[in-house]
Amino acid sequence: MKGILITVEGIDGSGKSSLVKKLGKRINQETSRQIVLTKEPTESWLGDAVREGLNREVDPLSEAFLFTADHIHHIRETIQPALNEGKIIISDRYSDSFYAYQGTTLQNEIEKPVEYLKNLRKNFTIIPDATILLDIDPETSVKRLKHEQIKFENEEFLNKVTEKYNQIAEKEKNRFIRVNSDQEIDQITEQTYNKIKNKLDL
Ligand code: TYD
Repeated sequence: MKGILITVEGIDGSGKSSLVKKLGKRINQETSRQIVLTKEPTESWLGDAVREGLNREVDPLSEAFLFTADHIHHIRETIQPALNEGKIIISDRYSDSFYAYQGTTLQNEIEKPVEYLKNLRKNFTIIPDATILLDIDPETSVKRLKHEQIKFENEEFLNKVTEKYNQIAEKEKNRFIRVNSDQEIDQITEQTYNKIKNKLDL
């Protein structure tokens, strides 16, 4: 049986992590297939290097290549093997985070940054079967962030990231599933689950 890759995207504070857990449980109730929950940045030393950079001022191009090293590691160690085994993978962030966030940090440095970044990864990335984009107003999302803030967690930056997510989703309407994240988590989970069920052969 063919494996399935579902990714969950959205700005910081959009509720991705809670959704990934609940969605995993929900899908598990309906199918006998194995579910793998994963995330980017990954839980490896490469992911640690990326997270270290989140608390520092890093040159944005160097940072983009760090995220890419972690993405390649994720594909080779986790995503590809799980797909080969016919599993259902749900990833909390994946390449669209890269296109939206680094598309923003590289805005003043590179012409058409999102195209540049997509081109950079095209020879080794695996395109998801479906991508859930959690829609939330940056003002609301920033209020939800309780933990210590990293450099990306401010409203002005997240407004720009939202714009990029919107542009990316607009170009690939078939892949993206948009869900309003300004509602109760159980409602978000149920809506997401129904939309995925309509789209994919779980
Ligand atoms: P986050 O999902 O918050 O990870 P953690 O729970 O481990 O802190 O991601 C950390 C930040 O990294 C978040 O602000 C989004 C950003 N990010 C990028 O800028 N590019 C990427 O490719 C990825 C995967 C994340």
